[in-house]
Amino acid sequence: MPFNKLSTNAGRLLGLLFISILLSSKGFAQPSRQKLDFDKGWQFHLGDVKNAQLKTTNDAAWRTLDLPHDWSIEGKFSKDNPATPEGGALPGGIGWYRKTFTVPAASKGKLVYIDFDGVYQKSDVWINGHHLGFRPNGYISFRYQLTPYLNFGGKNVIAIKVDNSVQPNSRWYSGSGIYRNVWLVTTNKVAIDHWGTYVTTPQVSDASATVNLKVKVKNTAGANEPFTIKTAVYDASGKVVATGGNIPSNSNLKDTVFESATDLVIKTPQLWSVENPYLYKIVTQVVKGKSVVDEYTTPLGIRYFNFDADKGFSLNGKPMKILGVCNHHDLGSLGAAINTRALQRQLEILKAMGCNGIRTSHNPPAPELLDLCDKMGFIVMDEAFDCWEWKKAKYDYHLFFKEWHKRDLEDQILRDRNHPSVMIWSIGNEIPQQSDTSALRITPELAGIVHSLDNTRPITTANNDPGKNNKIISSGAIDLVGYNYHEGEYAAFHDRYPGKKFIATETTSGLETRGYYEMPSDSIRIWPERWDKPFVRPGNNVSAYDNVRPPWGSTHEATWKVMKKHDFLSGMFIWTGFDYLGEPTPYSWPSRSSYFGIMDLAGFPKDVYYMYQSEWTNKPVLHIFPHWNWEAGKTVDVWAYYNNADEVELFLNGKSLGIKKKTGDDLHVMWRVKYEPGTLKAVSRKGGNVVLTSELHTAGAPAKIELLADRKLINADGKDLSFVTVKIMDKDGNVVPNAENLVNFKINGEAVIASVDNGDPVSHDSFKVNYRKAFHGLALAIVKAKEKAGNITITATSAGLPSASITIKSK
Ligand code: GAL
Repeated sequence: MPFNKLSTNAGRLLGLLFISILLSSKGFAQPSRQKLDFDKGWQFHLGDVKNAQLKTTNDAAWRTLDLPHDWSIEGKFSKDNPATPEGGALPGGIGWYRKTFTVPAASKGKLVYIDFDGVYQKSDVWINGHHLGFRPNGYISFRYQLTPYLNFGGKNVIAIKVDNSVQPNSRWYSGSGIYRNVWLVTTNKVAIDHWGTYVTTPQVSDASATVNLKVKVKNTAGANEPFTIKTAVYDASGKVVATGGNIPSNSNLKDTVFESATDLVIKTPQLWSVENPYLYKIVTQVVKGKSVVDEYTTPLGIRYFNFDADKGFSLNGKPMKILGVCNHHDLGSLGAAINTRALQRQLEILKAMGCNGIRTSHNPPAPELLDLCDKMGFIVMDEAFDCWEWKKAKYDYHLFFKEWHKRDLEDQILRDRNHPSVMIWSIGNEIPQQSDTSALRITPELAGIVHSLDNTRPITTANNDPGKNNKIISSGAIDLVGYNYHEGEYAAFHDRYPGKKFIATETTSGLETRGYYEMPSDSIRIWPERWDKPFVRPGNNVSAYDNVRPPWGSTHEATWKVMKKHDFLSGMFIWTGFDYLGEPTPYSWPSRSSYFGIMDLAGFPKDVYYMYQSEWTNKPVLHIFPHWNWEAGKTVDVWAYYNNADEVELFLNGKSLGIKKKTGDDLHVMWRVKYEPGTLKAVSRKGGNVVLTSELHTAGAPAKIELLADRKLINADGKDLSFVTVKIMDKDGNVVPNAENLVNFKINGEAVIASVDNGDPVSHDSFKVNYRKAFHGLALAIVKAKEKAGNITITATSAGLPSASITIKSK
């Protein structure tokens, strides 16, 4: 079905009028709605405390910290932690958070709310000893109203109990605590409701776009309060490009919700695309007499898209494939604690690879991820559940599904439906009820909930059994048929499902350790070679030649070759963009994090990153691997990923080893080389002209440390990060490929070390220390700004090596 189509309308003339109301209104000077960052200055206690919800409880001896906070990431790895290695092998437990705060007396008469973006999991919240509610879902955003229980002009205590003690409750690392942001929101008694706007773009053309905005205004003043709703659309430069509204509320309104809808027309709109994610914003005002009693901003990206059964996906009329990855929510060594810069870095790395899609596997994401996807141009598949009524982990969400699924799903759609980046809703991943008739009942119910709140996006489920017996698919309630794996069955999709639309909801599951290589490289290893055999390799490593996979998955190359073949394959989401904590397939303990990522846990690309870059971008790529430090005489397979060239020639110590060309559907070329130390040089050429050269040198002994900051200027806001890569080099500046030197970090100035890592899935060292061994020559220190501006010097020392320093600034 085509999404977002309608007719045009005029409406620009009101712009000037709207601006003059803005400028003249008294209320505009004093913000009518306040959204305060409520992350600072909490007291935390790990473990249960009797009566910790009471206002009078003394928490002075508790630890003081700022949110977002994940207490599991601070704990010790152990195979005996109830999460099991599958859940990251870190501790869970119960934690309490308390915050004492004042609300100004002047706020009396206003409404005060607390908004939680996500708490893992089973949270109970009290204000001044009064229980506000319980929320089991660890990924959902929720709000409580504090007003009736507040002491205006005096002290208030909010207390939160978080219970992540009953485990296993997740198939991956969940983290524990108030791991997303918290906000204190104050509004007038006549105000736009929570998630109270809904924007769609029912008609879009080059000439004009119709923007439909629905607004819900809630009046809890206890009296008739006539008001008017006014709306303006601003372009990216801040210019008003359309106005609408002047919609008066009906006169008998009292303690109720007033709904209005308006069409705004934007002439020659700039469309939102993955290459140019142009954003407008809509500002809605509720005006009473001459005052603006509320003001609310809704993001706006103008785009239209379509999934076609034969032609696949198109955005703004242009056919394209969704080239996406799945990610879990953890941020590696930072744990589950949300950090916008850490998310942005992940997206930057993915963007440079040519990726244009994110699947929020398998739960609602942090709101900041969607904001970033809107701004950076990613197409999002926003997923709700990993289970319905039963699954694998004994204590997972299936325990709460019956009672909570409607509320949780509604809240997710209401929160996320204004994001232009969101283009697919997924109501479940690998739901075991695919094979059960209960799916005939539940699928239409869930799809009905979604479509009642948003019918501009298709609904899918990620099916690990996409066959004819799948009851979710045969319920007929799904818009897009989602295949997890099974790429051998893609070609026959339309024989199985005539006229249906396809999406590869999950693909690949290639297994790799960054920097570790086994010969020969050209035979595919299926872990565990047979199901009954353990996979045994030194150090629990997996060769990084893109040739090891689990039985259900496929290699990166094999999957992409199939995806490329057919237009109707609208897109794919690779399992996964980044390694994540937990699910250490093909191993278990002592491994504690995954091997599936295109990037390792520290965010360092594995070689296959460049395969995607050579296929998914136009920038010239020539990447050769492995490293060039082997025993003399060993037969080593040298691979090259390249593009924009006809051929690659390889030289060893100046001697040509031959020219190779990709033929057919090849995605790399290979030379089988008898190793001798020295210099390996690859040259790519097009029409005889050199496009790129790339060299690998045999590295000598570790001789120096190099520090490289991804950003040398960061914000002094207590949150911003600089990611400092540590390279162990020989005297000539070559990374020493197997270096494991222990590096100690010292930091001076206005920042702290937030965490350290090296991407090793087997390390049991804490992430929250100031030292790390290098892993295949690299390590990472994540530096977090304090709130005071200044210089920051990071110094790295390691036994036997000269120390290295780098200075960055915060402003
Ligand atoms: C899929 C599942 C993912 C992850 C992956 C590992 O079946 O949806 O959550 O477990 O396998 O290959």
